[in-house]
Amino acid sequence: MNLKIFLTVLVSLGYASDALASVTLTVSGLKANIKNSLVELDFKADSTISAVKVGGKNIASTSERSFYLDWNNNGQGVFKPSSIHIVEQTSSRVHFYWLQENIDNVFRIELHYIMVDGVSGIYSYAKYTNDKSSDLTLGETRVVYRFNPSILTQGSNQARTGTLYTSTYLNKQTKIQDETWQLPDGTYYTKYDYAGYLRETDYQGVYGNGYGAFVISPSREYHGGGPLKQDLLIHQNSLIANYFISSHFGTAGLTAPSGWSHIYGPWLLYFNTGSDSAILSDVVNRVATEKKSWPYSFVNDSDYPLSRGSVSGTVSGQKSAMVVLWDDTTKTFEQQSLGHLYNTKTNSDGSFSIANIRPGSYLVAAYPLAGHGSDNLATSSVTVTAGGTANVGTLSLPEPSNIIWSIGETDRRSDQYKYSNEPRNYVYETLPPESLTFTIGSSSISEDWYYAQSKPGVWTVQYQDTQDGNGRTLRVALAAASVKPHLIVYLNNHKIGDVYFGNDQAVYRSAMQSGTFTSLVLTANNAQVVSGTNTLTFQISRGMVMYDTISLQRG
Ligand SMILES: *[C@@H]1O[C@H](CO)[C@@H](O)[C@H](O)[C@H]1NC(C)=O
Repeated sequence: MNLKIFLTVLVSLGYASDALASVTLTVSGLKANIKNSLVELDFKADSTISAVKVGGKNIASTSERSFYLDWNNNGQGVFKPSSIHIVEQTSSRVHFYWLQENIDNVFRIELHYIMVDGVSGIYSYAKYTNDKSSDLTLGETRVVYRFNPSILTQGSNQARTGTLYTSTYLNKQTKIQDETWQLPDGTYYTKYDYAGYLRETDYQGVYGNGYGAFVISPSREYHGGGPLKQDLLIHQNSLIANYFISSHFGTAGLTAPSGWSHIYGPWLLYFNTGSDSAILSDVVNRVATEKKSWPYSFVNDSDYPLSRGSVSGTVSGQKSAMVVLWDDTTKTFEQQSLGHLYNTKTNSDGSFSIANIRPGSYLVAAYPLAGHGSDNLATSSVTVTAGGTANVGTLSLPEPSNIIWSIGETDRRSDQYKYSNEPRNYVYETLPPESLTFTIGSSSISEDWYYAQSKPGVWTVQYQDTQDGNGRTLRVALAAASVKPHLIVYLNNHKIGDVYFGNDQAVYRSAMQSGTFTSLVLTANNAQVVSGTNTLTFQISRGMVMYDTISLQRG
């Protein structure tokens, strides 16, 4: 068969583009069509999608905007490209981006897509640059992908798998509060049911009826917030969101100085096919493949260095600790928004190491994930060089001595109490009692103490003690404080704490374990202690709190 006949046969079978080039990009004005042998994406001129074809079947939403980048800055804004640029175009890889620029008070944004031969999906990242002469701000910014909710009816954020429902269905149900509906069987669904901890989420996606679509994130280095940053991941109507920055669950937006630039991503938008269980096991395998490829060599940008370094060290004093590195050094790690953040738990011997860190200067912090030193934070700093391993030495988190009793251990999460480990849902904030009495020695933390004190009232702790000439130190570590709670703590009717908090928006957004962490260290003198039964009360007159741990120390 000569070449001409061979090609004619292929064209008649519809395989011409595969034979001529494995990845093809067709640009027309600002429209783009990109495909390989597995998937085809057809983009409109505004960079949103008109079709995502997997094995020839369109799985994109047919009624709603999809594949959009937007932000909130005291009002919604949406990415408006003015030009399209091809970075690389070979038969095995095509890389292009849309550019938005020259809009007053708005970042210059490049929205990149990279398709690779043989990969069933498309890589993406966004580069933001403040090319204005003064600060630019953002409350939140994200990318959103919507698929066909009558095909991809299910969702998984790795921590949780289930039905996502359609808006059409939810709008017929009883609305309880914004984004919260009561279903016919009496249970609730909220938009926040499938929120999760970003840095514990490798994949988030929607699937069903033979098709799956997932955002796979081999690294979360680029997001705002710390190890416990939570955000929306997937929700009703077959939607996947990748939030770069947000104020959900107690973090702040960003204020970027002139000249600042940042790459959000890359991530892989991955498509697969098969039974539900085959789709979910395949995505786990794909995560492992993507992690091996990080950092992605297809990015050629000084804001995404390919040569990286490592940091190692040891934490002493605790059987488990969290270690955090961040380079937005004007902020705490929980509130960092301009830079990059890495975190890891220590090994059983206290050692830790983190690889693939961008070269630069970092602050280092370690906090305990065990014991009673809830106010402990060890800090240091380190410089990471390309190809180098920096050792930060030993970070010390000494365990407080003379602990008389505790309710739980510290880890900045309310994870040992009643309902703590339930899947996120609106119902749980309605269940804890207004008042309870917890007796040290006989009550159970998993049955008699609750994940949140969600209603105005008084929670009482009773315990035996003896006046011994020493004062007492009461550590009250709060894992969350929502709707501006006012907490008053009394020991035997002596007020020993009176604290006002802000609103981390966590408890009423179905967070089950954390929002903004605060550690209170309260003291009582010897005269306030009684020999016999002592009564400690935690009174909230408004708002909601979660307790990480409470402990009483002699002295
Ligand atoms: C990376 O981009 C620079 C221009 O910004 C170019 O000079 C260089 O050749 C590129 N490197 C590769 C490997 O494409």
